Amino acid sequence: MRVCVIGTGYVGLVTGVCLSHIGHDVICVDNNEEKVKLMQSGQSPIYEPGLSELMKSSAESGKLTFTADLAKGVSHGEILYIAVGTPPLPTGESDTRYVEAVARGIGTHLKDEYKVIVNKSTVPIGSGDWVRMIVLDGNKESGSTVEPIFDVVSNPEFLREGSAVYDTFNPDRIVLGGNSEKAISMMQELYKPLVTREFAEDKSAPPVPVVVTDLSSAEMIKYAANSFLATKISFINEVANICDRVGADVTQVAEGIGLDSRIGGKFLSAGIGWGGSCFPKDVSALVHTADDYGYDTELLKAAINVNQRQRLLALEKLQNELKILKGKTIGLLGLTFKPDTDDMRDAPALDLIEQLNRLGARVKAYDPIVSQSGLSHGLSNVIIETNAEMLADGCDAVVLVTDWKEFAKLDFPKMAKLMNNPLVIDGRNFLDREKVEAAGLRYIGMGR
Ligand code: UDX
Repeated sequence: MRVCVIGTGYVGLVTGVCLSHIGHDVICVDNNEEKVKLMQSGQSPIYEPGLSELMKSSAESGKLTFTADLAKGVSHGEILYIAVGTPPLPTGESDTRYVEAVARGIGTHLKDEYKVIVNKSTVPIGSGDWVRMIVLDGNKESGSTVEPIFDVVSNPEFLREGSAVYDTFNPDRIVLGGNSEKAISMMQELYKPLVTREFAEDKSAPPVPVVVTDLSSAEMIKYAANSFLATKISFINEVANICDRVGADVTQVAEGIGLDSRIGGKFLSAGIGWGGSCFPKDVSALVHTADDYGYDTELLKAAINVNQRQRLLALEKLQNELKILKGKTIGLLGLTFKPDTDDMRDAPALDLIEQLNRLGARVKAYDPIVSQSGLSHGLSNVIIETNAEMLADGCDAVVLVTDWKEFAKLDFPKMAKLMNNPLVIDGRNFLDREKVEAAGLRYIGMGR
């Protein structure tokens, strides 16, 4: 099928590349000309395992092209994805101005060919009808004399950064919201190779369930899923804090409760909290939506508060051990909000750095991606080291912030020798405690 994906951020690019890989003819549109040039030259503007390789092979087969020309994209696609960002406003609401601009732009270029407009961006509940209205407005403003024929479908994504390509080919479910049978059946056709697991790791797995529903329910599914997962993490973090006080080990508690199939073992890793571009934004947006409709969401607000407190728990642990932090050197292992990504959006490390700086500590950091790329992501007051040993040198404590796999293999005896004071705070309960302690380091975890 002919597909146009508008917006080549994280979600748009992964969607475009993967749809081309399963056989569709895809044009990706972005208004950033430099980014378009970069992608045309075969380079991915984001780091995501497997993405560059697929991008290259699809471009070579002619199934994937990039342009800054929206008109070209709209005329090419029978299915048009809106995949632009909806960043949070200071109030917690989503900023939908980019979605609005794209919807208006699509309207301007619509002719008399039927189109399915797919909302992939995470938009406030009720946006499906709003998009329809903006497209119609755009069409009128363009002076068009033909009545455009199109339907809007909500198709939220559930991709995790760092495994977005894998998640696209191995989804747990596909959600399609809309009220047009024609549009829904075109979307089902589009996703057929994914539903039948043709590109999945386990090709013999049962077909992917497709949830067909109305627009608002599809939009709500996205918020509810992310809010549930974020709340689950806040829950285990709260349990970890009680474990700390009563002398229990939260990693074992998580295992013990996770084996109950009603609970499930995933997303029960206690640590310094959730971050990234989705959880913080989506939980706040749902709180805000509820508020708009006169409902005070006590549970979700508590999940946010627990998370905020959790981010500063490493600081509290440092203060307990080192007392005065002024003049001390603290090394952070990892900066990104989670491993296998270069994303620093709403990363717990940012809050920690700010507070350590405020208290007069010197902050050093080593992150496999941030250090390597030389990008400091706008971080000020942090010395970026190029490896873990240089990080350890002269530190009064090292705090593991991100659970990058390579941190499990660090040379702890060497690091211990280089440190000023042998203390490790494991903010993700990721390290092998015995190994760390055998190296002569004091180990402090989160709730264990
Ligand atoms: C999330 C959702 O998983 C995905 O479905 C949605 O589309 C986008 O938001 P992502 O933000 O990429 O994906 O990261 P995820 O792997 O879900 O982790 C989010 C945060 O929670 C990270 O900061 C991670 O470190 C933290 N986390 C996760 C925990 O603290 N404990 C856990 O057990 C799991």
